Amino acid sequence: MSREAGPVVARTRAELAAARAGMSGTVGVVMTMGALHEGHARLLRTAREQADHVVMTLFVNPLQFGPNEDFDRYPRTFDRDLEIAAAEGVDVVFTPTPAEMYPNGEPAVRVNPGPVGELLEGASRPGFFHGVLTVVCKLLHLTRADIAYFGEKDYQQLTLIRTMVRDLDLGVEICGVPTVREPGGLALSSRNRYLSPAERETALALSRALRAGAVAAENGEDALAAARKELEQTAVLDVDYVVLTDPELGPPPEHGPARLLIAARVGTTRLIDNAPVEIH
Ligand code: PAF
Repeated sequence: MSREAGPVVARTRAELAAARAGMSGTVGVVMTMGALHEGHARLLRTAREQADHVVMTLFVNPLQFGPNEDFDRYPRTFDRDLEIAAAEGVDVVFTPTPAEMYPNGEPAVRVNPGPVGELLEGASRPGFFHGVLTVVCKLLHLTRADIAYFGEKDYQQLTLIRTMVRDLDLGVEICGVPTVREPGGLALSSRNRYLSPAERETALALSRALRAGAVAAENGEDALAAARKELEQTAVLDVDYVVLTDPELGPPPEHGPARLLIAARVGTTRLIDNAPVEIH
């Protein structure tokens, strides 16, 4: 365990447990895979405002990457991440190795995300949500957090984590934090750094489509049609899905709050975005 001008850096479960034992009052956790950006900073700030202590986990979880995905090239920027954690007043950064996290190798028992985990991201990335929920469940146990903060940018992930906590009685509060966007509308994501300047321009179509959908929300079909029209105007975008759901990812309502979700590939980078829509 080391204190490097800021947070305590815990690399093992024992170091985390020792740091956690010294905390009284509420503990907020922000789980990350590193490559921090302003979206993570917003999560950390929210945790700092609401909880007495803030633990940040930094772990690139191999379980949630498919064989042809970007686990090896996922950006790893530890020193910069630690600076951001320090600036946001994080108390402890837990950054285990895969062997520390999974001492018996890949876990034989994993959290099953259920039917919602097979849709959308789950359909494109088989096993993804089993990997996410398994690591989130383990990190909730290891940190013994009272409140956990997740970005709305990964809306399906947030929804499934809420369901897991409810269905498995995990006894932790889940707080969703709104997406942070660049001035042009692009949702912040660690994977944005894969985009070339031209691809960044192309990627703006996602947030434009969400805005178009929200404006056209006289009914669900109009909202979807407006979003699709906007995306079709950007030929180099390879759209995976554009869907309208209720806020729990069920069938869209006739009236009231709904969610518009988009996934598309720009070059080799897969991007997702979503926004609330009020159906009139
Ligand atoms: O959203 C992420 O960065 C990851 O899915 C999470 C929640 C840290 C689990 O590895």
